[in-house]
Amino acid sequence: MDYLREMFGLDGRVALVTGGSSGIGRAVAVALGRAGAKVVVAARGEEALRETVAELRSHGCDAAYVSVDLGIGDRVREAAERAVEPFGEIDILVNSAGVNPRPHMNALTEEQWDLAMDVNLRAPFLLGQRFGPKMAERGWGRIINVGSQQGFRAFFNSGAYGASKGGLTSLTRSQAEAWSPSGVRVNTLVPGFVITPLTAQASADPVFCEQMAGRTLIGRNGVAEDFAGAAVFLSSSAAEYVTGQCLFVDGGFSGH
Ligand SMILES: NC(=O)c1ccc[n+]([C@@H]2O[C@H](COP(=O)([O-])OP(=O)(O)OC[C@H]3O[C@@H](n4cnc5c(N)ncnc54)[C@H](OP(=O)(O)O)[C@@H]3O)[C@@H](O)[C@H]2O)c1
Repeated sequence: MDYLREMFGLDGRVALVTGGSSGIGRAVAVALGRAGAKVVVAARGEEALRETVAELRSHGCDAAYVSVDLGIGDRVREAAERAVEPFGEIDILVNSAGVNPRPHMNALTEEQWDLAMDVNLRAPFLLGQRFGPKMAERGWGRIINVGSQQGFRAFFNSGAYGASKGGLTSLTRSQAEAWSPSGVRVNTLVPGFVITPLTAQASADPVFCEQMAGRTLIGRNGVAEDFAGAAVFLSSSAAEYVTGQCLFVDGGFSGH
């Protein structure tokens, strides 16, 4: 067990998980906490944030939350300062907050484009600018950007969302280029089709769900908990030689 703790344990680390109140972000926040990190979760809705903190504390973890609209630049900067108040500087940044406006390309508005870019790409950029150089100064850090298979292929009206996720994947590589020489590892976690509130409309259709499951190699759609192990790995010492990469956690969806 000492060997596993040394390799994967996050004792003494502080993590900030955006979108940590729901779906993939929440499962990742709980996993990082249970692996030893102190966790700050960030999103807008306070009730879900409080519930997540309570879940983390029920596992004996130190946890806190910051309520913020990540679509507004000044609020992102201000929330980043609030995020360091409970436990100190951030060692592990997970950008999981995301929105997916889905109109047909003909109907996609500038407002929807801006919303997707602001929440999915600009906020991770701003948080990276705040925390990445500090991680590099300290000689250790981890950034996990939650991308999407839609950053690699069109998938049911991904006009703005896919563009933002493609940008996030590129941002990951540039952040890795900048800070990897100083001990920071930056990677993209790429989900396939995962049953969460974000996909509630699509996943209410059993025929569609079955089709999506059929496109994986293992025959089922993802659940948020599927991301726990991959997130702990990418946050840990075990990922020392892994940076600038995309880790597809998609049951083989991308393998077809
Ligand atoms: N589910 C999938 O099939 C799938 C596939 C590929 C990629 N992903 C990516 O995985 C990540 C997590 O998605 P999920 O499926 O877990 O979705 P989810 O359950 O809907 O969670 C989204 C989270 O983002 C937060 N959020 C949304 N807008 C925000 C804003 N303006 N400011 C601050 N927080 C905001 C939400 O909280 P509030 O609403 O309270 O703010 C929530 O905590 C996203 O980046 C998504 O693009 C998901």
